[in-house]
Amino acid sequence: MYYVSRCIVNDDLKKEIFAKVTEYYQQAHANKKFVAGESRVQYAGRVYDEREMVNMVDAVLDFWLTAGRFSEEFEKKLGAFIGAREVIPVNSGSSANLVAVSTLCAQQLKQRLNAGDEVITSAVAFPTTVAPIIQNQLVPVFVDAEMGTYNVDVNQLEVALSPKTRALFLTHTLGNPIPMDRVMEFAKAHNLFVIEDTCDALGSKYKGQAVGTFGHLATLSFYPAHHITMGEGGVVYTNSRRLAKIARTIRDWGRDCWCGYDNPMNGKCGIRFERTLEGVEGFHDHRYYYTEIGYNLKITDVQAAMGVAQMEKLPNFVAQRKKNFARLYAGLKQFEKFLILPTWLPDADVSWFACPLTLRDGIPFD
Ligand SMILES: Cc1ncc(COP(=O)(O)O)c(C=O)c1O
Repeated sequence: MYYVSRCIVNDDLKKEIFAKVTEYYQQAHANKKFVAGESRVQYAGRVYDEREMVNMVDAVLDFWLTAGRFSEEFEKKLGAFIGAREVIPVNSGSSANLVAVSTLCAQQLKQRLNAGDEVITSAVAFPTTVAPIIQNQLVPVFVDAEMGTYNVDVNQLEVALSPKTRALFLTHTLGNPIPMDRVMEFAKAHNLFVIEDTCDALGSKYKGQAVGTFGHLATLSFYPAHHITMGEGGVVYTNSRRLAKIARTIRDWGRDCWCGYDNPMNGKCGIRFERTLEGVEGFHDHRYYYTEIGYNLKITDVQAAMGVAQMEKLPNFVAQRKKNFARLYAGLKQFEKFLILPTWLPDADVSWFACPLTLRDGIPFD
């Protein structure tokens, strides 16, 4: 339904509007020069051109507003880039983390996590990696991080294990891959769920495989400092259709129906009015049937429209981030007696979010 308005609008008018938006971009945003000693040095920021603006205006002209054709396109493009079958857009990386943990606590999941169960996580983390564990009445068990990688020390996982341990929620710190083969070996041996927080690690690989595709669920953030941005935004992704369906339910008010954006009368499933409910006479409308404690964490199509334009730039963003990191690292190498420089695994292909440094003890500055 969201494309109906597009069919009746004069395309020339749209072209004229887009040309004006491009002109505006050129005048107001393009070619901002960096002036040494004057311009602020950002550690990261949004990188965009007229294509993001045109896409966003296109979405505004559709006036579909909530997730629609751009969101669908974004899901496909991001899924193909990562190698993930299911991509579930949400309004932030924090929301993605909340949806991921809540998915593992869903009523319909037989092996669900229950109140009081323990989740092993890293002591060096973002607050909203830990918050959803507590929000779901689970118990975070912190494992310390290694100096240099700032990732969870996998040698300590065994120490953190207890009969109540049910899951691991681990962050690839600032893009730096965790040795996921060892994590998955540990998880399989103890029958644990694994969520990977890859909010800072889009494009990173371990042993040639994208981070986020090792565990059961993974998350991304599109806040402006991240590899791609929508202003605000994020996704949960997974190769499990079952977990994806639950994640969509949690994201969409707890609604059982998975019918997605284009809402034919009978829903995508085709059985919107045909299911029976024990104890209820006649039919019920599956679309308005709520089976989980949910939220509304969806994105708008204007955000997704920006994401679609950013996806075209993503391979180049990853290459540029690697180049920037290599330059910083080479320049800082001479100061190693003051600084602990970042380290990474030989099998890691890092799409760096930032270049973490630690000051050594006893140096003449802080
Ligand atoms: C590792 C990590 N997880 C989660 C988040 C939360 O993402 P958002 O800011 O989109 O809520 C961030 C934010 O930067 C992050 O770095």
